Amino acid sequence: MTNKNKTEFEQNWSKFRMPTWEEDISRNHDTLKPFENSSAPCDIPIENFKLGDFLPKELLGGKSLLEFIKKDHYPIPATTDREGYNPNFDSRYFLTGLSDYLKIATTAKKYDVDIKSYFDFGCASGRVLRHFCAQSEIQDLWGSDINGRHIKWLNDHLPERLKVIHNSCIPHIPIADNSMDVVSAFSVFTHIDTFETAWLAELYRILKPGGLCYLTVHNDDTWKLLQNAGPENGVLSRFRQIDPNFDELLMNDIPKERRCFRYTPVGPYRALVLHSNDYLHKTWGRFFDILEIRGKAHGYIQSVLIGRKK
Ligand SMILES: C[S@@+](CC[C@H](N)C(=O)[O-])C[C@H]1O[C@@H](n2cnc3c(N)ncnc32)[C@H](O)[C@@H]1O
Repeated sequence: MTNKNKTEFEQNWSKFRMPTWEEDISRNHDTLKPFENSSAPCDIPIENFKLGDFLPKELLGGKSLLEFIKKDHYPIPATTDREGYNPNFDSRYFLTGLSDYLKIATTAKKYDVDIKSYFDFGCASGRVLRHFCAQSEIQDLWGSDINGRHIKWLNDHLPERLKVIHNSCIPHIPIADNSMDVVSAFSVFTHIDTFETAWLAELYRILKPGGLCYLTVHNDDTWKLLQNAGPENGVLSRFRQIDPNFDELLMNDIPKERRCFRYTPVGPYRALVLHSNDYLHKTWGRFFDILEIRGKAHGYIQSVLIGRKK
């Protein structure tokens, strides 16, 4: 056989290897590649920060944006180390994280929860957690991710009062029962294809009775946004790439049951997931009293489910 007729694997077989068991259930467990961070927000010129729709002014609670910026001395992770959030727009990356932090703080206040402990599941390199470190006095801060490189970034750059865990795709969060006031997961259940209820049960277990969960989903509101979206919408094009029949599906109501669209056949963190409101009430509602499902509350397309531990 000539080289031309060989598959990519046949031509390059010596560069490929079987994943180790750690890679099969997590990512980057022994990363050593140095980080190429950007400057800390306090060192970025103020004129680079434009509130826009990233951060509604009301969320600042009467404070000036500069006050928040000056408190943040941590570097900003490189675009490649922040899960695609605001590529090459460091100031916007800061603002989207600040916005999510302030939304959690105002939600906790609304539901009378005093945050003394907080856990961010699938926290990546701390887009939201960095603000808990820089803007609050909360001492009991936790984060976890399936990607060991993010965990290394957090250990290298954020203060010691934050405890970070490299978890695997097999549901287990090594945090004590009934210990967290608030848990969050931004754009995580929108990707977890397997063992969802076991992860929910873990979040339920670690929350204090009456504690809040703040979890983003692709739900009925997302579905309507997708139905009206133009071809430039990134999430819509991803769904279309994964499923060539997606447009046909989109002509109907959102599928009643949870639906996964897998984009890689192997490894964890491999799907886009849809959750109808009916499914959320039937399944997630067993763990949490669902207080609200807020449409378009994370990024342009995701909703936030706010629940209270039953
Ligand atoms: C779209 S990113 C969002 C990151 C972060 N929450 C944020 O808002 O910036 C999804 C994150 O979830 C993590 N992830 C996916 N599956 C996970 C799992 N089973 N356990 C923990 N983290 C997971 C990924 O590694 C990634 O960092």
